[in-house]
Amino acid sequence: MSELLKGQIAVVTGGSRGIGAAIAALFAAEGAIVAVNFRADQESAGKVVEAIVGAGGTATAHQANIADEAEVHRMVDEVLQKHGRIDTVVCNAGIVRDNLAASMPLEDYDQVLQVNLRGPFLVIREALPSMIRARSGSIVNLSSVRADTGGRGQCNYAVAKAGLQALTRSLALELAPRNIRVNAIAPGLIETDMTRAIREMGSEELTREIPMRRYGQPIDVAHAAAFLCSPRAAYITGAVLSVAGGLGL
Ligand code: NAI
Repeated sequence: MSELLKGQIAVVTGGSRGIGAAIAALFAAEGAIVAVNFRADQESAGKVVEAIVGAGGTATAHQANIADEAEVHRMVDEVLQKHGRIDTVVCNAGIVRDNLAASMPLEDYDQVLQVNLRGPFLVIREALPSMIRARSGSIVNLSSVRADTGGRGQCNYAVAKAGLQALTRSLALELAPRNIRVNAIAPGLIETDMTRAIREMGSEELTREIPMRRYGQPIDVAHAAAFLCSPRAAYITGAVLSVAGGLGL
């Protein structure tokens, strides 16, 4: 086990699969105690925790829909009861509901904003008192290259991710004097369930658009998150780190 995140107590939202599961596993391997949030898939979250514990790490699973204020409050309370404090929050949970604007149901527009933008605010707000008390902390928000480029059929998603970057910068300013750093990662196209349909639809055409000519892996994003939460990034706040193989340049 390495030491990059030794002793940190980290909450990872949407940690039962994809990028979140990779972040949870890497953080634990780097010495963090990981609270793995899941919305509904308790079995998968349990497997992520089991794998971490099996590898000699420490992790617990915590249910909450991150868009629901009461559920987030209860979850953060649960993590604090169990682990005593929160040093690190990775706001990873997110959804897509792609559609052209002319045919997009308002419900899909709202839902994407609820989960991808309101969710991180709720989780961060609940975790902050613990970090403020400790006068230290680190927050990483999972944005997307679509925040800058926009996305055809993704106006809801691009708006939410651009908003998340604005939230990141505002909180970085607000919390810098308290020694709490807030950064974002903007992944490109990463091989997870979220991108399966789009990858299956036009794989070759898509990889041609990526300067590095391949999709990213969840672990590529996890390494960026671990760096941003580590003491090696001690003077980095308000940054958006692209993990996209050059997509969006
Ligand atoms: P995924 O769909 O594989 O996993 C998302 C996770 O979030 C799932 O575990 C899901 O259950 C959870 N989740 C969704 N709604 C939730 C809620 N209300 N409360 C709690 N958990 C909830 O997606 P993936 O690819 O792992 O994405 C992770 C993050 O990275 C997302 O924020 C996504 O927008 C972002 N991202 C992903 C990219 C990709 O190419 N896969 C590209 C750019 C950004």
